Amino acid sequence: MATALRTLQLFPFVSLAPHPTPIDELSRLRAALGPDCPRLLMKRDDLLSFGQGGNKVRKMQTVAAEARKAGADMLITCGGVQSNHARVTAATGAVLGMRVVLVANGAKPATLTGNARLDALFGAKVRYVPSREDRNTMMATVADEARAQGRRPFIVSLGASTPTGALGFARGVEELVASPHRPTAIIHATSSGGTQAGLIIGCALFGVKTRIIGISADDPSASLSATIAELLGGAALTLGAQPSTLGADAALEVDDTFVGGGYGVPTPESTDALQLVARTEGIVLDPVYTAKAMAGLLARARGGEWRRDDTVLFWHTGGVPGYFA
Ligand SMILES: Cc1ncc(COP(=O)(O)O)c(C=O)c1O
Repeated sequence: MATALRTLQLFPFVSLAPHPTPIDELSRLRAALGPDCPRLLMKRDDLLSFGQGGNKVRKMQTVAAEARKAGADMLITCGGVQSNHARVTAATGAVLGMRVVLVANGAKPATLTGNARLDALFGAKVRYVPSREDRNTMMATVADEARAQGRRPFIVSLGASTPTGALGFARGVEELVASPHRPTAIIHATSSGGTQAGLIIGCALFGVKTRIIGISADDPSASLSATIAELLGGAALTLGAQPSTLGADAALEVDDTFVGGGYGVPTPESTDALQLVARTEGIVLDPVYTAKAMAGLLARARGGEWRRDDTVLFWHTGGVPGYFA
């Protein structure tokens, strides 16, 4: 365990933003939820001061180190037109002096907004494909074309959700350990699994005993849990640790009951959550991920899942440019 922790702390890392991010007390939101509401905290990764922030910055810090080690001079990744991960990859290419090509599923927007507008600002080129299923083939084609031109491309997996990316996120738990807070539960948005895997690894290695509840933005609980389990296994191999040391034998909590009509489709609960947090705390959530995760937190708090003296930490994973899409 001590060896695995040390390996994590020494893992190759490109610093893209200063840490730690703040942990804010949400006292007005708590008051709005009534006298039985637990203490509410928010870890402000939306405020990571690079590329408009968010969880992808944490994962990219280790993935960018991997790309550098591979001698890459170009990053290729994929996502939806409004992908936060694509936007952070674009910003990473800018700061590291690497060319970036993004493969986006969807139609080219007539006017670039939100993340898509930032992708262009950071200098990334975008190739559009009709559907999610076409992304990997197009990334391989772009990589082949680049190699034929003498470039050294590096393909960043969807969401940077690889064992390496998860280890980047895991390091963020050290910031929680350094704070006075010991939450009963951590709630966050989950989609490609790297953030939840990272939180599980980080909490296991830094000795934080808490529940980690991922609220899915799209996929069913069973498939997302399988992805997270695979990431935990891969991270264990990378660190040379037993999977159980990284929390892989604990029950995974992935809640898919707040997805509603699907990825990026707001629900009445997510719209209410977005407005309530904005109007009590002056904090902006994003409609695709964090508003649905907050809807999950609010429903659980209102349903009496926790006691008044419990502490629930919402890990704000960013995505705020998506609000302006
Ligand atoms: C703002 C935001 N929150 C949460 C997530 C989910 O993170 P992960 O893909 O690591 O599960 C994403 C990624 O897609 C995101 O962009």
